[in-house]
Amino acid sequence: MNVTRIYGILAHPVGHSLSPAMFNAAFAEMGINAKYEVFENLARGRKIFRLENSSPGYISGLSISLPYKESVIEFLDEVSEDVRAIGACNTVKIQNDDGDVKKIAIGFNTDWIGFMEALKEKIASVKNLNVIVLGAGGAARAIVYGLIKEGAKVVVLNRTVEKAAKIVKDFSKLCKGCETVPIQFGRLDEIENFKCDVLVQATSAGVGTEGIEESFVSEEFLQKNEPVVFDIIYKPLITPLLQMAIDNGCDIITGEKMLLNQAVKQFEIWFGEKAPKDVMNKELNKFIV
Ligand code: ATR
Repeated sequence: MNVTRIYGILAHPVGHSLSPAMFNAAFAEMGINAKYEVFENLARGRKIFRLENSSPGYISGLSISLPYKESVIEFLDEVSEDVRAIGACNTVKIQNDDGDVKKIAIGFNTDWIGFMEALKEKIASVKNLNVIVLGAGGAARAIVYGLIKEGAKVVVLNRTVEKAAKIVKDFSKLCKGCETVPIQFGRLDEIENFKCDVLVQATSAGVGTEGIEESFVSEEFLQKNEPVVFDIIYKPLITPLLQMAIDNGCDIITGEKMLLNQAVKQFEIWFGEKAPKDVMNKELNKFIV
């Protein structure tokens, strides 16, 4: 029997997620018999991971968003090295093991890949570039992981300086026996003390409102450094920071590119084939203003 496979996003609130539109368009394009739905309740997690292939609610894969990226880990049988390093999982693949007897749920993190792919559309390599990351939450952790893996010189600035210090401590060596990576931390208002080729806005300040209320960056800073400015917020697409960057002659990268690229990688993890990125992008852009 050709059972419709179910995928979905687990998040709360999940109402405004753009993932269903992107993935359902991708399934239609590729002729995949699957549906992508929304789930809000993590408590059902263990149960939904274990349902049989033929059950109506059987789930083959999940995107995980706020606030479940850390708490989902306890439901998983295996996690990738990057989930372990970042401490957060945004992708679950559920597959059969032991000759179909057992289901296993495996966790991945594609946020850092989505970020780096979006960055590479503008900058071929970040090796030895000075990158300032504003924020030290879950999103910033994934971003810093990607940046230091590729040899950037990273400075993490955060309102709560202890959280920035923790990222530096956690990531100053990416693996046992690895070289120490050049990574520094500080408070947001210390930004003027650092050189900057790329500025990444990864705080959630202003999310759900009209964008970032406080400006973390001065016009003088932008004029002096001329960084590429990447804001991971995509509502609105041109945030006040990006507008300020444009007005001061800086190149910008908008936040929906990270969303798209992390979803493209999720598709590839679930199906083992190239995602129809153009179709997903077109669908996403119908909802982005
Ligand atoms: P996410 O997963 O989106 O990163 P998070 O883990 O809650 O969300 O982290 C939110 C980040 O935005 C944190 O770095 C937070 O700073 P604190 O660590 O000081 O809380 C930052 N942030 C949120 N609102 C902010 C504001 N108004 N000003 C400055 N930073 C803010």
